[in-house]
Amino acid sequence: MAILVTGGCGFIGSHTVVELLNAGKEVIVIDNLDNSSEKSLERVKEITGKDVVFYKLDIRDREGLEKLFSERSDIEGCIHFAGKKAVGESVQLPWEYYENNIGGTLTLIDVMRKHNVKNIIFSSSSTVYGDPDSIPVTEESPVKKCTNPYGSTKAMQETIFTDIWNADKEWNIVLLRYFNPIGAHQSGKIGEDPNGIPNNLMPYITQVAVGKLECLQIFGDDYSTPDGTGVRDYIHVVDLAKGHVKALKKFDEKGGLSVYNLGTGKGNSVLEVVKSFEEVNGIKIPYKIVARRPGDIAANWCDASKAERELGWKAEYDIKDMCRDSWRWQQMNPNGYR
Ligand code: NAD
Ligand code: UFG
Repeated sequence: MAILVTGGCGFIGSHTVVELLNAGKEVIVIDNLDNSSEKSLERVKEITGKDVVFYKLDIRDREGLEKLFSERSDIEGCIHFAGKKAVGESVQLPWEYYENNIGGTLTLIDVMRKHNVKNIIFSSSSTVYGDPDSIPVTEESPVKKCTNPYGSTKAMQETIFTDIWNADKEWNIVLLRYFNPIGAHQSGKIGEDPNGIPNNLMPYITQVAVGKLECLQIFGDDYSTPDGTGVRDYIHVVDLAKGHVKALKKFDEKGGLSVYNLGTGKGNSVLEVVKSFEEVNGIKIPYKIVARRPGDIAANWCDASKAERELGWKAEYDIKDMCRDSWRWQQMNPNGYR
């Protein structure tokens, strides 16, 4: 039996493909390469010594999906990463975000059910908690209105999956709410490869370290956090990838609908991340404090105990590991996969 991985050439997808192959799974990847390169899968092959079947395919392409599911009757379930993910861009291009993320997911679900494949793991996000009333957030914390179209697509997709399951209990659906994935595979062969100037903290830091950017801007030091800078639950992408392999057991258990936070359960401030990066890698990161970024919250981290209890999964790597591995990837690949 095979696992279909949508968006498998991307950052989290490629790391998950490695862990699936290491666990002895057969993997089929589809990706439209909108935000990734097929080179990531060549690297996956180098790391694992195993083959991955790849189709350049868009999840909105109904005919293409029909053909794939008809040819591959051994698909047991899907891990669904494909989607657009840039918060700022989603404010500028809301239609493109709704059409790709919602439209694509609806087409995928429809083709899956026609072929009686009703097992799916979905990439959700801590963004669905909005600005939480209390932290750490648990899976029972309220889902709040998102401040941008990207976040709204995640909340809407969770609603769609929940309604699909309410109507048809043959589905096994796992909604994984990721906190802040950073880091890279220890080999330095795969990692995060953002287009243009990075929006997120760690790729910005690594590009300053490699000399592509001059200075990190820290968005605000007047939050009600211990040092005034924003606090997040950073999780090593390899830990996150392993969480998906663990979640596969929900297919066998006929687990119905389940929701898990995937984070470390520990928050780090922006200044702590910068300091860890400098210490572990012996590089100075010049920074300046600037105004808060609109839409940012002060702090968020999770209670990840449900995933430990029910999936037997727990994050193993700490912020130092994440800083070391992010830097190794950037150093070995100053221009990403290009
Ligand atoms: P990524 O952009 O590296 O990977 C997403 C992949 O999906 C890319 O390879 C892209 O080419 C592909 N894709 C996009 N639209 C597609 C379509 N219509 N058809 C086929 N392929 C398509 O992003 P990532 O960081 O690996 O994120 C993976 C998933 O996890 C996304 O759904 C993202 O929203 C979610 N997520 C990411 C984070 C994060 O901080 N990285 C946090 C929470 C949730
Ligand atoms: N930050 C800076 N300077 C930068 C970039 C970020 O100071 O150049 C700060 C932010 O203000 C925040 C922290 O670093 O306090 C983390 O910011 P990121 O942009 O790396 O991450 P966010 O928590 O803002 O959001 C990211 C994704 C969301 C996703 C969320 C949880 O962009 O889509 O993680 O997974 F929902």
